[in-house]
Amino acid sequence: MDVGNNFEVKDLKLADQGRKNIEWAESQMGALLKIKERFFREKPFTGVKIGIALHPTKETAVLVRTLIAGGADVAICACNPLSTQDDVAAALAEEGVKIWAYKGETKEDYYRYLTNVINFQPHYTLDDGCDLISEIHSKHAHLIPNIIAGAEETTTGVIRLKAMERDGALKYPTIAVNNLKTKHLFDNYLGTGQSTLDGILRATSILLAGKTVVVSGFGPCGQGVALRAKGEGANVIVCEVDPIRALQAVHESYRVMPIAEAAKSGDLFVTVTGDKNVIDAQHMAVMKNGAILANSGHFDVEINIKELEKMSKSKERIRPFLDKYTLQDGRNLYIVGEGRLCNLVAAEGHPSVVMAQSFCGQALAAEYAIKNKGKLQTKVIMLPQEIDNKIAELQLETLGVKIDTLTEEQRKYLESWNEGT
Ligand code: ADE
Repeated sequence: MDVGNNFEVKDLKLADQGRKNIEWAESQMGALLKIKERFFREKPFTGVKIGIALHPTKETAVLVRTLIAGGADVAICACNPLSTQDDVAAALAEEGVKIWAYKGETKEDYYRYLTNVINFQPHYTLDDGCDLISEIHSKHAHLIPNIIAGAEETTTGVIRLKAMERDGALKYPTIAVNNLKTKHLFDNYLGTGQSTLDGILRATSILLAGKTVVVSGFGPCGQGVALRAKGEGANVIVCEVDPIRALQAVHESYRVMPIAEAAKSGDLFVTVTGDKNVIDAQHMAVMKNGAILANSGHFDVEINIKELEKMSKSKERIRPFLDKYTLQDGRNLYIVGEGRLCNLVAAEGHPSVVMAQSFCGQALAAEYAIKNKGKLQTKVIMLPQEIDNKIAELQLETLGVKIDTLTEEQRKYLESWNEGT
């Protein structure tokens, strides 16, 4: 470990590779770079301290540089013990960013690093999974009067925030960046779809064609995973609790059944529900010898690994992100990336172009919150539709795509009610 006053990273010697990876990400994140250029001119974050708990990836580094270009003082830690890209963390530390993160953090270090970000006394918090906000509310509430607002990146975090709001526990305004259309309809669908398979394939090197892949959860993430698995020639089974999503899966030609049934036939299981014990002891008890289990939901609670440990007579790490569990009855089950989100653990997370769009949302959310300091309600806040549209426009412009505009006649027609057949 390399430790300095304002950083703790794996190895500063990795910084050169980290800089190259950040540059590679930047080459595909033109929309965010446009915002960065504007922020550099306008300095919306002068005097603002931004505390971040995100996956410290090359894409996150581009966001960090964007906020710093806007005048912010930034401190960052990981929002998952296994998702840090050590070369990127080293590069950020060398650039002078306050960063505490390494891949494979112990639980103690994970919480110590969150505390470092909290002790930085941020005016704005940026979370992925809600651990930063949750820690501030439960253990450092005295800092809250100084906090203008926060933002949340992912579905799981927004669910936690809504629970806080319902319980009257949420004490500062928090923007649900995840709920922007330009975020969840793209990042969750395209990003999770591709990067989940990327992680599974890097960890296992299996052929998907002909395999039975069971996808638990058919929200935007599960829809993406199912589509990409189908595209690779897998027979996909979907498990859902929501009747409308289940119906949607049926009509998209997936087999739909309860996990108790699917458990018997799956070769590969992928959980993307956001809930716990989705794959439990009774399911693992009937799985085929050799079945592979992976999770792409935010927390490592979706596969009941504690129960699997109890059912097993041995466990062996057979490849960097693949553990073989040998059960009492002799069957082997394989767990990808310790049941943590396999796309960030065993691969590099979502592709940069997708993250550009998501992080435009984060950059503009921070600007919106600072501009509206004192005016936002202490709630889970949705950003105005114009911001969503602006992000899509920026991304289209970067991709070189032009679109139509309504004529005056068409606009009037849409706003009127008296013209019929
Ligand atoms: N979440 C999913 N993919 C990511 C990435 N590449 N960077 C940061 N957060 C992510």
